[in-house]
Amino acid sequence: MTTDPDTLLARARECLDRAYAPYSRFQVAAAVLADRGRVFTGGHVENISYGLSMCAERVAIFTAIASGARRIAAVAVASSGAELLSPCGACRQVIAEFAAPDTPVYCDAAGTPHRWSVAELLPHGFTASRLGKGRGPPP
Ligand code: THU
Repeated sequence: MTTDPDTLLARARECLDRAYAPYSRFQVAAAVLADRGRVFTGGHVENISYGLSMCAERVAIFTAIASGARRIAAVAVASSGAELLSPCGACRQVIAEFAAPDTPVYCDAAGTPHRWSVAELLPHGFTASRLGKGRGPPP
């Protein structure tokens, strides 16, 4: 299973023009490397009722989970912007649900990938262990 950032970021970039962004006109796309080496991609999907919009990271992750994946080994995020994009707070929590603390999250920064770990993006996050013994996904 490769977590090569350039390959995964290229998969995200390929998906940028499929983002549905008529309101922000700012395109975001993500690629996730899931268990069994499968890669799932997605662009974000906006809605006229803005709060219903769904970020690219969650589109890609939910596609992976809905396709039977359960763990995520790497995430890559590309955007149409010139500035380095880092995932929003909601996406950080969703990434943490399916990824280990040291899982890499690569973000496009004008050709140079920037790498964060999940733990760096979401320190002190809410985890299943806080619910008590016997709750949460199987180990
Ligand atoms: N967006 C994402 O898809 N992912 C992020 O991590 C940040 C923001 C989208 C949501 C919104 O439709 C647009 O970018 C502008 O904020």
